[in-house]
Formats: sequence, C-alpha cells, structure tokens
Amino acid sequence: MSQPTIESILQEKRLFHPPAEFSQNAHITSRDQYQQLYDKAQADPEAFWAELAAQELHWFDQWDKVLDWQPPFAKWFVGGKTNISYNCLDRHLTTWRKNKAALIWEGEPGDSRTLTYAQLHREVCQFANALKQLGVEKGDKVGIYMPMIPEAAIAMLACARIGAPHTVVFGGFSAEALKDRLVDAEAKVVVTADGGWRKEAIVPLKEQVDKAIANNAAPSVQNVLVVKRTGQEIEMQAGRDHWWHEMQADVSANCPAEPMDSEDMLFILYTSGTTGKPKGVVHTTGGYNLYTHMTLKWAFDLKDTDVYWCTADVGWITGHSYIVYGPLSNGATTVMYEGAPRASNPGCFWDVIEKYGVTIFYTAPTAIRAFMKMGDEHPNARDLSSLRLLGTVGEPINPRAWIWYQQIIGGDRCPIIDTWWQTETGGFMITPLPGAIPTKPGSATLPFPGIQADIVDAEGNPVEGNNGGYLVVRHPWPGMMRTVYGDPDRFRRTYWEHIPPKDGQYIYFAGDGAHRDEDGYFWVMGRVDDVINVSGHRLGTMEIESALVSHPAVAEAAVVGKPDELKGEEVVAFVTLEGNQQATEELNKTLKQHVVNEIGAIARPGEIRFTDALPKTRSGKIMRRLLRNLASGQEVAGDTSTLEDRSVLEKLRGGS
Ligand code: WT7
Repeated sequence: MSQPTIESILQEKRLFHPPAEFSQNAHITSRDQYQQLYDKAQADPEAFWAELAAQELHWFDQWDKVLDWQPPFAKWFVGGKTNISYNCLDRHLTTWRKNKAALIWEGEPGDSRTLTYAQLHREVCQFANALKQLGVEKGDKVGIYMPMIPEAAIAMLACARIGAPHTVVFGGFSAEALKDRLVDAEAKVVVTADGGWRKEAIVPLKEQVDKAIANNAAPSVQNVLVVKRTGQEIEMQAGRDHWWHEMQADVSANCPAEPMDSEDMLFILYTSGTTGKPKGVVHTTGGYNLYTHMTLKWAFDLKDTDVYWCTADVGWITGHSYIVYGPLSNGATTVMYEGAPRASNPGCFWDVIEKYGVTIFYTAPTAIRAFMKMGDEHPNARDLSSLRLLGTVGEPINPRAWIWYQQIIGGDRCPIIDTWWQTETGGFMITPLPGAIPTKPGSATLPFPGIQADIVDAEGNPVEGNNGGYLVVRHPWPGMMRTVYGDPDRFRRTYWEHIPPKDGQYIYFAGDGAHRDEDGYFWVMGRVDDVINVSGHRLGTMEIESALVSHPAVAEAAVVGKPDELKGEEVVAFVTLEGNQQATEELNKTLKQHVVNEIGAIARPGEIRFTDALPKTRSGKIMRRLLRNLASGQEVAGDTSTLEDRSVLEKLRGGS
C-alpha cells in the first residue's frame, strides 16, 4: 500500500458500503431496518427490550416490571429469575450445539485446547462445586487473577452459576493493585494460577497473590485456588491454598444453575476514574445478559457458523462481555488467545486466524498499528480468506490504521465495526450494524437501537450542527452499570450529575468528547477528563500521581498524556522532589519501576521529568493543560493569566 499523505489521512471522507451479499445475509439487512428498530426502541424502550428478553433468553420466572427507574438507579426485568451461566451453557445442551466448540483456546507456548458446550458445562459445574466446598455461597465475592486460559472463563461462569459475584483483576496488575481490589470487593476466595505466559516469560501470579494477601492485608480472603499452568515451584500454604486439579478430582459434575434475581450482582470490575482509587463498576444479571447478547448478535452479525475471536484479556470489560458472556449466550464458538503481539512473533494473530478459520475478528487500534508497523508481508503470507467481519475498540481509530485493517486484513471485503462503549455501559453503545450502515473510517457511526446517545454542552443543552461537545446517553439501557460498589454517591456524582439534571431528567455523562456530522454519524474524540488511554487501557492520572508521591523521594507529581503513534497516548509525569533528593537518571528509573510495582506495567511512565515546581493556579490547582502542551512539545496555548508564578513555565520550557 502506498503511504497516504497527511491530507488524505485527515480527510478520509469515503463511505464504505457493506458488500451486497453481506447485507442480504445479515441479521439486520438495511438502513431502513435499522431505522425501524431504532424508532421502535425510541418510542417504547421497555416494550422493545422486553420483547427481546423473552425471545432471546431463558427465564426461570418472568419479570413483573420491565424497568424501575429511580434516577440514577435502574432495575431491569424486576422480579425476573434467570442465570447467565444457564443461558451460556445449559440451554445449548438440548440442541445440536451440545457438541459444538464453545471455546477454542490457543495457548502461548503452542498449547491448545477446544471445549465443546457439553465439556465446558461439565467443567463449570465441577468448579462451581469446588467453590461451594470452600464455603462460597450466593452473594460471596470471588477474586479471579488469571492468565488467558480456559479456567479463567470457567471460573467466571462457575461464580455466575452459584450467584457469587466475581471480580476479575487483570493479570498485569501488581500485587498492590490486586490487594486494593480484593479489599474493596471483600473477596472471600481468590482463583489464580501458578503463573502465566507473557511474551516468553512467566508472570508469577500466585506469588503476587501471596504478596497481596500477606499479613492479613486482605482479611476477607480465606482460600486461594490455584491452576497449574506454568509448572514452576510455588509455595502452597496448607489449609489456605488448594490446587484446582486436586479439588476438581473430588467433586461431582452435577450443579444446577441457581435461579438468580435479574438484579442480583453478576460482577464487579474495577476501572480508573478521575479521582481517587479505581471504582468498582457493578453489573447485574438479566439486563447485562440481554445487552451483551443482543449487541454481539446484531453488531457482529453472529451466526452459528462463525468462529469468533476477540483479542482482549478477560481482565477487561471487553473480555467479560465479548469473549465470555456475549458469545456463549449466543451459542457461538469463541476463541481465546494467551499470546500477545511482539516483534519476535510478527504473524501471531494471523496464524491464529488461519489455524482456526476465524470469521469474525475483534481487536484494538493499538494492536492494528503495531502489526502495521511490522509489515504487510506477515498477514500477506497467511490465508485470511475465512474472515468476513472486523471490529475495533478501545480508542478512536486513526483513518490510516482503519484503511490498512480494511485492505490488508479484510481484503477489501470485510465491513469494519468501530464499537464505542465503556466498562460502565456493559456493551456496545455506538456501532455500525454491519449489513445496514455504511461506514466512515474513524467514526463509530450510529447508536445501537435502544440507545439515546446525544451531544450536549456543559449545561446539558443539545449541541447543534457539527460542533463538539460531551457524549451523553439520555435513557437507561439494560447493560448499564448499576452503581459503584460501596459508593452509590460516587456513581451519582460521576456519571449523572456532571451534567446537571434538569426537571428530574438525568443524563449519563460518558467522559468523552464527540461531534456529529451531517449524516448523524458520531465521531468520538477521546476523554475530556483526567483519564488517559494507553494502548486502549484506561488510566487515571491521579492514580499514577498517587503512586509516585507514595515514594519517599517525591514531593509532588502531575501526570498527563502525550500523543503516541503506537499506543495512542503515553504517560508523562512531572515530578518535584523532596529537598534532599537529587534528580538522577537512577532515580528516574526507580520511580518508573515504583509505578509498575504500585499499579502494573501498563501504567509505567514513558517519561519522567523532574522540575523545581509545577504550574499552578492561584488557588493551587495544577494546570494540566500547560503540562500537556509541554509534554507534547507544543507551544503553550490558551490563557495562562491564572498561572500563579510565571517563572515556573519558563523553567519548565527551558530545562527538561
Ligand atoms: C473509554 C472506555 C469498552 C472496551 C474498551 C475500553 C475509549 C472505547 C472507543 C472507540 C473511541 C473509544 C473511550 C471510552 N473508547 N472504545 N471505539 N472509539 N474511543 O473500555 O477501559 O472502560 O474505556 O475508551 O474514551 O470512554 P474502558
């Protein structure tokens, strides 16, 4: 492919229509059909979702009320009884899907495993019984800190089966970050592995769990269940720690799914915000099940013949909704991959697609850009002809990466769906339905039926024309988060009062800026708050600042994002030191490592700049806008009149 000029990158105005054959065979075949669904949902959201809930899911008991909306707290399918593990497993066993591949796992050093629906069901039941044997009851929380192996999905489904909410903690988080989450969620049991494979090295997961819960630091934790994965020596504390395979050998495979209330908590998943510690985003059972089921079915046009692969980690919402729950609820074949793209294996994704005949592929712009850089020869040397649909998520995709994805991976024949959503939304919010909506590179296009997305100003007034504003949602939807675990007030403040409610009308503030073009297409521009997005991972600037100031050498820290060609953004930290400290190269390295220890490698600052002082307003607020300009090497733009000490700016400019 010839390199497009900057001009063509910025002005990629082409409209990409779905191939006629794709549209004809799609669940949603035309723009008209989309519009009808959208209008129907808009006119009567409750009837719209209720019809789908009855049609698509199994319920032990019908609900009495579709939606109970006490702003900003929503309940969906009130009084209904269901179980997402039943919907993901049991109900497929009475059909031909019983022997269909549910989960295909491609492990890191060449291991692989396929579990049919019947096999997956059996393992989930056994593991659920193992949890019960350890005293886990309905309502008890279970921490899951795992590599990308089938047991991660099995553990999640087992928790769901017995009504024990899980909290999955990404295996890349540090012991410290794990501890915070286990404490906040009051986890009773932690499920982990001896280790996980990460780029040819072993991540010592069990050791991190030991560190996290040492000295009773997470007092709720009573037991640790350990999968043997990497096989190295680890310490097992008698009475507390148990091997998964040993427990499994002892338990029965009979464990009926517990009828759960539709609003019973399914899981807590921690995500970064602008202030304080990560928030525990709470999702519940029925609405989340329906929403992930429907969004995957329509947006990825999922069929029984598909081999579907989402490259995320189960530690993130994408893994929860679109590796585990959404695909299995639909009876699909879902691929799980333990590896990660790296220079020494530049064709790894394309190998997996070729090996399993993947038809639907879902990844992040940062991965697309990394592969793009490695060269077209790698995908070109593989047979990618099984692919029929591509997806992207995590950050705005730059048109150049979109075009490469479309041509080199999709062979000019696969629609691309750019899915905008969040941990909080549970599932896709703005996304093309691929048979119905022509796409534009860089736009997530139109809201999913039932989603009343809009763009408003700070007071909540609609923004007309192609002007930017805040991306909001006006009506509750089944997959929305229900609260922040243990802090309903924070939920209200962060998401529903940021834009002041008018006449009792609460609107959901997503934290993103966006604009809408003449065709009504949404263009998400990125966060408007102090959240940065590194390789599609969400990091709170304040979290990293807290990590830095917890080091004795640091007096003050301010963290901003700097645009990065591959990662989207990179972490840049401005640091002032305690009086007796020297700004050495050594200390710079130490502090970077300190952040890794406190949070995890994903938060490692790309750059730390030592400075004598930080630019502040007279009221003492750090002027991040100035720091962002400085970090990216731009001229400091805009008003600096509120800066308390102008010489600070001169020094920062001169001496970094
Ligand atoms: C934030 C949510 C949802 C799964 C992955 C991240 C950004 C996500 C897109 C997209 C532009 C996107 C937003 C959002 N984002 N998808 N398609 N286009 N931006 O989940 O960690 O909860 O982060 O990711 O800024 O607010 P998350």
